[in-house]
Amino acid sequence: MAYNLLKGKRGIIFGALDENSIAWKTAERVHEEGGSFVLTNAPIAMRMGQINALAEKTNSMIVPADATNMEDLENLVNQAVEHLGGKLDFVLHSIGMSVNVRKGKHYTDQNYDWTEKGWDVSALSFHKTMQVLYKKDAMNEWGSIVALTYMAAQRVFPDYNDMADNKAYLESIARSFGYFFGKDKKVRVNTISQSPTPTTAGQGVKGFDGFIAYAEKMSPLGNATALDCANYTVSLFSDLTKRVTLQNLYNDGGFSNMGVSNEVMEAFMK
Ligand SMILES: NC(=O)c1ccc[n+]([C@@H]2O[C@H](COP(=O)([O-])OP(=O)(O)OC[C@H]3O[C@@H](n4cnc5c(N)ncnc54)[C@H](O)[C@@H]3O)[C@@H](O)[C@H]2O)c1
Repeated sequence: MAYNLLKGKRGIIFGALDENSIAWKTAERVHEEGGSFVLTNAPIAMRMGQINALAEKTNSMIVPADATNMEDLENLVNQAVEHLGGKLDFVLHSIGMSVNVRKGKHYTDQNYDWTEKGWDVSALSFHKTMQVLYKKDAMNEWGSIVALTYMAAQRVFPDYNDMADNKAYLESIARSFGYFFGKDKKVRVNTISQSPTPTTAGQGVKGFDGFIAYAEKMSPLGNATALDCANYTVSLFSDLTKRVTLQNLYNDGGFSNMGVSNEVMEAFMK
C-alpha cells in the first residue's frame, strides 16, 4: 500500500546489488511513495548486479561510486543534485563488506590490511558520504540520512567477525555526525539495526542459516524482512519522523530485548 509519504522528495540510495538487497526493496518502496532518487553502487558490483532493471523500474539514474573514494562521492552528489533538480531530502547507506569474513579469516587471526579495507567500506564510507553532503550543503532542511547496521555492535555474535567492530564504529558516526548535521542543517541521522536477512552480504556470514533460524525463534514477531526494513526506512525519510535523530533503531521483531523464548527453551528440554 502506498501513502505518497515521499512525494516530491529527492535522494540517493546506495547498495542495491540484486533483488534480495535491502537497498533494492527500499528503492522500490521509495518509488511507490513518490520519491525520486539516484541509485549508486561500487563500479565492480554493477558489473555483477542487475541494477539496470531496478533503474528502469523506478525511473532513476545510476551513478557508479566506490563509497570509499572521495572523488567518486563528490561526483555522485553533484550529479544527483543536478539530475534531480535540487538539494536532497534523503540518503540511504546500505553498504557492508568484510574481507576477513569473505576469506574465512578468524577474528583472532585478522589480516589487518583486510580489516582496514572492511572498515573503510563498511563504516568510514558513512562519514565520507556525510562529509561530502555537509560540505556541499547538499541536503535540504529536515532531510534524513539512514545507515543499516546489526546488533553485533552491542552483543557478541562470534562469526560476525570484524563486522561487529565496523558496525559499532558506524553507529558512533551516526551520532557524532548527526549532532553537527542536526545543529547546522536541521538534518536527521539514524541507523536501523536490522534482523538477519538473506542477502548476498548476510549469507556471507558463517553459519548464517542457524543464525537466522535462531533469531526467528527468539523474536516474538519473527525476523524483520528486507521489505519491513524498506518500510521502516520510508517512515524515517518521511516528514512523520522529523525529530527522530541520533538513534540506533531496532527493526528486529523484538529480538534485541529478549532473554530467551519458549521455542528456544524447548530445544534444550528433554
Ligand atoms: N543481511 C543481513 O543479515 C543484514 C542485517 C543487518 C544489517 N545489514 C546491513 O544492511 C546493509 C545492506 O546489506 P544487504 O544485506 O542488503 O546485502 P547486499 O550484499 O545486497 O548489499 C551490500 C552492498 O554493499 C555494496 N558495496 C560493497 N562495497 C562497496 C563500496 N566500496 N562502495 C559502494 N558500495 C559497496 C555492495 O555492492 C552491495 O550492493 C549492509 O550495511 C549490511 O551490513 C544486513
